[in-house]
Amino acid sequence: MVTVRAPATSANLGSGFDVFGIALDRPNDYITVEPAEQTTIEVTGVGSRYIPEDPEKNTVGAVAKALDAPAHIHIDKGVRPASGLGSSAASAAGAAVALNELYDLGYSRSDLIPIAAEGEALVSGEAHEDNVAPALLGGFTIAGGDDLGTTHVNTSLPIVVCLPEIVVSTKDARNVVPETAELTDTVTTIRHAATLVAGMFQNDPILVGKGMHDPVVTPARADLIDGFDVVSVAAQEAGATGVTVSGAGPSVIATCYPGRQRDVASAMVEAFDQQSIDCRAYQTRIGHGVEVLD
Ligand code: HSE
Repeated sequence: MVTVRAPATSANLGSGFDVFGIALDRPNDYITVEPAEQTTIEVTGVGSRYIPEDPEKNTVGAVAKALDAPAHIHIDKGVRPASGLGSSAASAAGAAVALNELYDLGYSRSDLIPIAAEGEALVSGEAHEDNVAPALLGGFTIAGGDDLGTTHVNTSLPIVVCLPEIVVSTKDARNVVPETAELTDTVTTIRHAATLVAGMFQNDPILVGKGMHDPVVTPARADLIDGFDVVSVAAQEAGATGVTVSGAGPSVIATCYPGRQRDVASAMVEAFDQQSIDCRAYQTRIGHGVEVLD
């Protein structure tokens, strides 16, 4: 039997649509695998009633099939589905590591990225590596695809993610993304993305926060999150260095000055509350990838 802790992740970080991702210290999924003749799946925890246990329909079932590693798999969800916090990626990455360990398959963490991404695609419809890469490797990742591979750096910046009780499907969130962008907006995005990368390598929350600005994708998606602008201003006044939509939303992510997470979390919750929207804030950090517990 093998148990792993699989982290929530935040993709895009504004300027890095479908490319950037970070692992978060919390929340987490816990996944336990035991050898079996055929794969069976049991799901408990946050939002488990929305997750199919049929291996043909579950992201983790697809991973077990791809690895030819049948097992009884128990997923204890801490990362709510449809949160913008990489819920299916956490389960896919966690199962990939756990099964690799259980059957001593010898894959590296990088080898497991495309396998976990295909598993995630079963749920999201498209294979993106910007959640599974940080879930597997930890830290900050740049998903470079087949030609560039994945670039990775370990860092540990303070983060707050605030998950409002709003439903935003990934499909809707992708449908609002503009198909084209003005050259000036593209230049602005590249400028900020490059600044964000420099900030990650220097562990600098100010460069990372400023680098999250993006004039193309985020404004379109922010319209799907009631109160986003008010929450963003409140977070920055309370000590956030930058605020953007986490993944496809509805979570909102803020990078913070050291020691300011509590203030930022309170300000975000209060701002959502003023719009009569319930939410939950996580005070967290950029953290590790999947960890094998026993
Ligand atoms: N990069 C993806 C998106 C993450 O923003 O749509 C969610 O799969």
